Amino acid sequence: MDSAHRTLLYIGGKPNESLLRRLRDRAWLVVPAMSANTMAKLARAPMAGLLDLTDGIHEGRIARVEQLSRSLLVAWVALVSQETRKWSAVRDVIATHCFDFVTVPTSHERIVNVVGQAIGMEVLRSEVEPPELNDALSDGMIGSSEAMLELHRAIGKVAATDATVFISGESGTGKELTAQMIHARSERRDKPFVAVNCGAVPHDLLHSELFGYERGAFTGATQRKIGRVEQARGGTLFLDEIGDLPSESQAALLRFIQERKIERLGGLESIDVDVRVITATHQDMQSAVDEGRFRADLFFRLCVLQVREPPLRVRGKDITELAAHTLERFKDERERRIHGFAPDAIAVLHNYGWPGNVRELINRVRRAIVLSDGKYITAEDLELTDYVSLAPDSLREARAAADRRAIELALFVHRGRVVDAARGLGISRVHLHRLMQELGIPPRATVDEVHDLSDTG
Ligand SMILES: Nc1ncnc2c1ncn2[C@@H]1O[C@H](COP(=O)(O)OP(=O)(O)O)[C@@H](O)[C@H]1O
Ligand SMILES: [Mg+2]
Repeated sequence: MDSAHRTLLYIGGKPNESLLRRLRDRAWLVVPAMSANTMAKLARAPMAGLLDLTDGIHEGRIARVEQLSRSLLVAWVALVSQETRKWSAVRDVIATHCFDFVTVPTSHERIVNVVGQAIGMEVLRSEVEPPELNDALSDGMIGSSEAMLELHRAIGKVAATDATVFISGESGTGKELTAQMIHARSERRDKPFVAVNCGAVPHDLLHSELFGYERGAFTGATQRKIGRVEQARGGTLFLDEIGDLPSESQAALLRFIQERKIERLGGLESIDVDVRVITATHQDMQSAVDEGRFRADLFFRLCVLQVREPPLRVRGKDITELAAHTLERFKDERERRIHGFAPDAIAVLHNYGWPGNVRELINRVRRAIVLSDGKYITAEDLELTDYVSLAPDSLREARAAADRRAIELALFVHRGRVVDAARGLGISRVHLHRLMQELGIPPRATVDEVHDLSDTG
């Protein structure tokens, strides 16, 4: 079996250290199972999971298993004790969710073998039924505001080329979703889309995760491991949070982008790999470059084409559409029916600034579905009562907020060009500059003036 597929999720209490060591020796990358979002970024390849039921059933853990099984290809192995294996609740969980179970205490060898079988089965299953990219993509991207239409145009343009793309935008705005859409609309659509979150993988593991290693490259490298770059062969590699890429990997990535060759750790040969690279971050890369944390030559290469994600607060009616869609999608998570949003909730959806953007909106609505005890979700259920009515000098504030949104939107649509944004708003450039200063809107450093679509053919 391909060693590149050996990710093992772990759900439970504190894992047994010597078992962990044994698994790592067998080239397993053991990751604690966090939220589905984090996990979805980690890998789309089949993986195994270890679910600790030796201390009974924890509802939270079971919920996590369910959630992860929806978005990932994972075969679970339960660990039970002599005692808990007799419980009917434990047997139910195993029957519903698990590929197999192991009764502990037992040898670590046996556990290693069973998770090996589990992942083998999952690989087989994935080959029978090709997985969807993820459920968000099949649901599509929601929104038809001016800002989103602009984004769709940008996606369409870059999907038609094969150049490297850099996606910037605040966190939770949909950068990964955008990368998936670019891939899905490109000629590479039938080849893999591989996403790596450079901020989520520990730095000392990231290099080998990306570029792989040969057997014997270091203690514990008992088998060759194919890195993510090679896994994406023919397709698209999406590197999220690229600002977190350590300098060692920056050099290797630069070489890869220039020469389309990689070297596995401990390997002697250069390997040709044809992969399109898309990167993203919410960080200000210009200052990362200025401060010497990121190589200027690499950043320049990554930014051949640039796509900007609009923040949620400038998407107008998309906000309520997204909220309604989220409610529709998750309302079955509770028994009693919820009919929609109360007026005070609609008000806060628009008054609130959404620093966490679409991700925050989805999280708040999901939480509200659970918290609400009426037919309609209220501002209180969204935990946003502070935003229902505006402060005492509310008219001034409301105007400032409206101005800020209009200006941010105009700047977004005109890709940061103040002259054009001012024209779009029907005011002079000087006036716009003054308003931006008053409202604290930074003039955006735009990279795409350096390169242009027409350069890349
Ligand atoms: N326009 C959209 N329509 C529907 N869901 C969206 C949209 N934009 C983002 N999402 C969802 O919001 C969450 C965060 O998106 P993601 O692409 O991970 O953001 P980022 O990478 O910018 O932090 C994901 O669950 C994604 O599916
Ligand atoms: Mg992201």
